[in-house]
Amino acid sequence: MTDRAAALRAEGRDIISLSVGEPDFAMPAHVADAVRAALDAGDTKYTPVAGTPRLRAAAALHFQRDLGLATTPERVIVSAGGKQAIFHALLATLNPGDEVLIPAPWWVSYPEIARFAGAEVVALKTTAAGGFRITAEQLEAAITPQSRWLLLNSPGNPTGAVYSADALAALGAVLARHPQVLVMSDDIYAPLRYGSGTHATLAVVCPDLAERVLTVSGVSKSHAMTGLRIGVATGPAWLIEAMARLQSHSSGNPASLSQAAAAAAFEGPQDFLAEWRERFRARRDLCVAALNAVPGLSTPVPEGAFYCMVDAAPLADRFADDQALCLHLLEHGVAVVAASAFGGDFGFRISFATDEDRLTEALRRIAKALT
Ligand SMILES: Cc1ncc(COP(=O)(O)O)c(C=O)c1O
Repeated sequence: MTDRAAALRAEGRDIISLSVGEPDFAMPAHVADAVRAALDAGDTKYTPVAGTPRLRAAAALHFQRDLGLATTPERVIVSAGGKQAIFHALLATLNPGDEVLIPAPWWVSYPEIARFAGAEVVALKTTAAGGFRITAEQLEAAITPQSRWLLLNSPGNPTGAVYSADALAALGAVLARHPQVLVMSDDIYAPLRYGSGTHATLAVVCPDLAERVLTVSGVSKSHAMTGLRIGVATGPAWLIEAMARLQSHSSGNPASLSQAAAAAAFEGPQDFLAEWRERFRARRDLCVAALNAVPGLSTPVPEGAFYCMVDAAPLADRFADDQALCLHLLEHGVAVVAASAFGGDFGFRISFATDEDRLTEALRRIAKALT
């Protein structure tokens, strides 16, 4: 897909990409100022492997303020992106034959990381009708003595699904019976929720499980800092230590200037987020209305993040697979990602982190390509 998109662009074709998972906004100005100030101050040396004391404290503040999760700087690790935190957590704990339970559709890196760590992936299928959420019964039926991790992601990529406190409590009741299972709560999109009320996260809803929950967050999505590569995680001390040991022999500390930026992001004003959320909400509504108006396409209203998971099953007989559907859309000037890449059924994911004019044009092209 990427090669074909590049080839079409080289021919002079205008391709609108709705495939990337990053906000199109510039990162907040005070964060850019913090990078410049850190550079001027010569902040370019090694830092402690698990992150600077300032950033670990700022991340603890973030977990408390934005997720309601009380933690301490010692129980926080800073990594080169949320992805690296997840990678180190799984690599530090998994052995061949272990099972990792992953609700599908999933973020593409989860199964790859689990398999890289030698584990078996167990897909827990979810559907649009079920809100793209797993149920307690489904979880209970999937757990075996080999189950080592459950990976939860709310709001979810690629579905935008959000777990309520009640839904998490039901899952927590199952997990309480299976002490061998660790839980990754990937809350990286928590600041980008469109519903009212506070964000629900497993370690808060089920404090009895807190000693086996790793909560992952970061600044990539909430502060449009994807390129700076900072993610943070908090969990039991033994796990944070194991992740830090691994990190010390892989990348070492995350980039010092990026850490200064992330500290400023967590410590500084958060009011820009309300405006970003409103922009995303308006785009979401635009996408949901336009996509559902195309015969053969349907998508639920995502409650968070900036993706729509689009079901295109009624069009399946026109294409060899959903990759072919996506290539067809590409020929009509829009790049999207096939649902099968996320372990989903025939369809595609769009990202609405694109400006309104381009988004409107892309939606027009999708409708034209399929009708
Ligand atoms: C669900 C989810 N978790 C984690 C990440 C990792 O983000 P990063 O490594 O850029 O901080 C992403 C990025 O796309 C994501 O979608």
